[in-house]
Amino acid sequence: MTDAIQIERERGLLTLRLNRPDKKNALTRAMYCQLAEALKQADNDPEINAVLITGSTECFTAGNDIADFIQQPPGNLDSPVFQFMLNLLECRKPVIAAVAGAAVGIGTTLLLHCDLVYVSRDARLRMPFVNLGLCPEFGSSLILPRLLGQAKAAELLLLGEGFSGEQAAAWGIASEALGSGEEALAKAREMALRFESLPPEAVRISKQLMKAPDRELLRKVIEEEGALFTQRLRSPEALAALTGFLGR
Ligand code: COA
Repeated sequence: MTDAIQIERERGLLTLRLNRPDKKNALTRAMYCQLAEALKQADNDPEINAVLITGSTECFTAGNDIADFIQQPPGNLDSPVFQFMLNLLECRKPVIAAVAGAAVGIGTTLLLHCDLVYVSRDARLRMPFVNLGLCPEFGSSLILPRLLGQAKAAELLLLGEGFSGEQAAAWGIASEALGSGEEALAKAREMALRFESLPPEAVRISKQLMKAPDRELLRKVIEEEGALFTQRLRSPEALAALTGFLGR
């Protein structure tokens, strides 16, 4: 266990806080394992109404730890990163994200699977998968063109263009953009605590209905993307880009 994931319980709200500031909250295998386990427990705990995923007021996450990508690349659906994302996908409770600063790679992708997302206006989101010799992951190649249209999604996924929290809210990736990181985290907590006073069964059924139409297709796309992503991680293009980042 590491304190790189801080797990806090406040009445019916479970907060999962990414806490590895020296590496911009980059996510390691150990961190994914903790996140996956916490999500599963929250899902099965009748006392928990909602889960909040956040980082600090300075940084959400720089995405997957790049050294881990080189040394211990995920190989299949049993890998910690897949377990975390599949548990996020399957979570029956509302999951809320609070984002300030950088949200890179999976830090942006995971937002597409949260129910409510609060960002600071100046948050910096980016999915530089192609730039790293990789490809989109966890349903983003399906969700983003549907949400934004092909042309805007291509800027984000093919060119790896970054975008702000303000743009994320305008495009429907985030629920709302707030003036500062502090405000984004406070608003996310306030909204997450609201689930305490809502009937949990009605919330569960409503979330299920909202997710149901795309569930099977999304699973299929995630498997296809996952197979290609894990292949790409071992490609010369990716190894050159990833080692290039570490050797900056
Ligand atoms: N994996 C491993 N280490 C990372 C990391 C990552 N994804 N992102 C940042 N770090 C480390 C840096 O190597 C640096 O470590 P060091 O101080 O030991 O040299 C430290 O975190 C601070 O990063 P730095 O780049 O100096 O911070 P910044 O504020 O200038 O920039 C980011 C922040 C997030 C914009 C930048 O770090 C970045 O682009 N990171 C890579 C993001 C990425 O490509 N993720 C993978 C997507 S699949």
